[in-house]
Amino acid sequence: MKILIIGGAGTIGKRLTSTFSSRGHEVIVAGRNSGTLQVDITSTESILKMYATIGDTDACICTAGTGYYGPFDSMTAEMMLPGLQGKLLGQVNLVLIGRHYLNPGGSFTLTSGIAAEHPARNGTCVAMINGAVNSFVLGAAQEMRQERRINAISPGLVEDSKDRYGAFFPGYNLVPMDKLVNAYLLSVEGAINGKILKVYS
Ligand SMILES: NC(=O)c1ccc[n+]([C@@H]2O[C@H](COP(=O)([O-])OP(=O)(O)OC[C@H]3O[C@@H](n4cnc5c(N)ncnc54)[C@H](OP(=O)(O)O)[C@@H]3O)[C@@H](O)[C@H]2O)c1
Repeated sequence: MKILIIGGAGTIGKRLTSTFSSRGHEVIVAGRNSGTLQVDITSTESILKMYATIGDTDACICTAGTGYYGPFDSMTAEMMLPGLQGKLLGQVNLVLIGRHYLNPGGSFTLTSGIAAEHPARNGTCVAMINGAVNSFVLGAAQEMRQERRINAISPGLVEDSKDRYGAFFPGYNLVPMDKLVNAYLLSVEGAINGKILKVYS
């Protein structure tokens, strides 16, 4: 398969890149500064340019984007905008534009997160974004044509992010990377559609 991974050089993405490559797929990694193709998912123009460059694909995975973390008491709508435009609308736009480039039978795999159900302290914005990504997938899956599929992977705190984020998520189980990678494999190589695959431990 020809697989596009946006964020494929990131913590989770690089595991996916090596796994899908080792399984014989053609993997194209995109990122803002990393990867072989530059894209900013907050920009429609940039997404259009990316798809025009690579042409048709069999699978599109997104592991790019984050959201605002900070005290609820001082949070403003403006603080939430970058995450909304990136992790939420960016992923949505990858699908809205990308469906014209996705081969019949192909799949989209978006990334949400455990915060959708179990927000950490200071994590209201991210919780909202993750929940919205999940709901988008539920709706879009019903509307996909020609056996195209769409799923969301909802990771818990992954092993490889323990040092970076562990202190902010007390009580969260660390997710083994192999288990998380398997969820992406199931979404891309399997037949599931409209699922939110939760990998929380
Ligand atoms: N890590 C965890 O424990 C965890 C837990 C739950 C959910 N998640 C979710 O999983 C996803 C991946 O997390 P991660 O820890 O692997 O993130 P990461 O290490 O920060 O990597 C993110 C990747 O996305 C790219 N990226 C960021 N913003 C972009 C944009 N606007 N346009 C294009 N590419 C962009 C980055 O590329 P550049 O470096 O080139 O900018 C980077 O390759 C995120 O949605 C995160 O919220 C992660």
